[in-house]
Amino acid sequence: MSKEKDNKLPSSAKTAADKMDKIVSLTKRRGFVFPSSEIYGGFGAVYDYGSYGVELANNIKAAWWKAIVQENENIVGLDSSIFMHPKVWEASGHVGGFSDPLSECKKCHSRSRVYHILEEAGVFADEKMTEKEINKLLKENKDKIKCPKCGASDFSEAKNFNLLVKSNLGNFTGDWDKKPAYLRGETCQGIYVNFKNVLDSVRVKIPFGIAQTGKAFRNEITARQFIFRKREFEQMEMQMFVHPEDEMKIYKEWKERRWQFYLDLGIKKENLKWHEHENLVFYAKAAWDIEYNFPFGFKELEGIHARGDYDLSQHSKFSGKDLSYQDPQTNKRFIPHVVETSAGVDRTFLAVIAEAYTEEKLKDGSERVVMKFPKKLAPVKVAIFPLLKNKPELVKKAKEIYDNLKTQYMCEFDDNGNVGKRYRRQDEIGTPYCVTVDFDTLEDKSVTVRNRDTMKQERVKISELEEFFSKNLK
Ligand code: GAP
Repeated sequence: MSKEKDNKLPSSAKTAADKMDKIVSLTKRRGFVFPSSEIYGGFGAVYDYGSYGVELANNIKAAWWKAIVQENENIVGLDSSIFMHPKVWEASGHVGGFSDPLSECKKCHSRSRVYHILEEAGVFADEKMTEKEINKLLKENKDKIKCPKCGASDFSEAKNFNLLVKSNLGNFTGDWDKKPAYLRGETCQGIYVNFKNVLDSVRVKIPFGIAQTGKAFRNEITARQFIFRKREFEQMEMQMFVHPEDEMKIYKEWKERRWQFYLDLGIKKENLKWHEHENLVFYAKAAWDIEYNFPFGFKELEGIHARGDYDLSQHSKFSGKDLSYQDPQTNKRFIPHVVETSAGVDRTFLAVIAEAYTEEKLKDGSERVVMKFPKKLAPVKVAIFPLLKNKPELVKKAKEIYDNLKTQYMCEFDDNGNVGKRYRRQDEIGTPYCVTVDFDTLEDKSVTVRNRDTMKQERVKISELEEFFSKNLK
């Protein structure tokens, strides 16, 4: 962001923009997030996770899997493919209606996402609005909306732009528009098309859920807000198949459980809020989003939807296969209704990073940046240092401790620079504990364990380290 533009911002916005810049810079510098193909100038709205980023993302997915699959006897996992029969996307409504309205600035000819320019002007547009409704809003707010590039207020009519990403998989005609194979736009379609396979192969009875994590692809129009809106991203979705009469009761339960999930990830209550969708699609009974207070404002983190029987009915119609369920008690057949919880790995990652990012002034006047991740999410749990790298007896002991602890926790051995610098580096990647082997260690068989948050140091016997960490790294 340029200085001039920055100066025009109100101080709260300036602080928020500043925080976002710092997060983007730290996550790159410390190996959490890299722009994709950076040596070629990057690739719009595509990012890579570096060594610490992949650990954090894996820990987020593991926490989700535990809360959804491991701790619920009636929810099972799935890993369906990215590619599916093209008809899946016709049945789901994505080929016909999965689009984002786009408008062109008549002055500089840059194209903008209509939701974004309206939002910047303080006008809320529900993402489920029709093209006609969106154009009405655009007209009504003509003078308020400004082109993000040149500032002009003269836009063309909005046109819907389909977000599905096409490929030529299995298509040797040279014409991509002829029967394109799509990269999945959401992971849940793989769940719906496997509903019968799961029902026939696993001992599940309604209500039961199918969960999966995996990549999804959308031709998002604007590449903004870092990893918040990516073109290749990862979802964590669970579809609960329920009796129609139970749909709203189960929906309410999952709303509460999903809210609690984010609190359990260490996100403060005041940084979360509910947003109810106003213009529901005809089949939906309810749709609420959990929003997080990102540095650029409250935005969607997860959607929780009561989808009625739409999904299974559509796939039944398009495939010609019976996807009804026979109630074992009444023997009555019905199409199960769906309660969906749909979260994004990348948005949770960004929320966890934003929540953890802390700047502290220390007693000696210096400052430190520390990522206060909950311990279960921290990419590295314990860092082990020899006090000096040129003292083989210290290095040997530190390596021994590292080799022992690494079998249980993600650990890092670090002998670079002075210990103060190593602490700062571990603070920036959010390592909860650092263990230093010094000359006293060789005598008293104890090490110094330093706590990331309190910065307190204590001596712990090497023989008691395992017990110490099993108690403190829960
Ligand atoms: N199956 C329902 C569904 O896909 P959605 O609201 O379009 O609903 C669900 O997406 C979640 O997926 C969002 O709440 C968000 O966390 C994540 N998500 C969607 N689009 C994304 C994008 N372009 N980049 C990163 N995450 C995205």
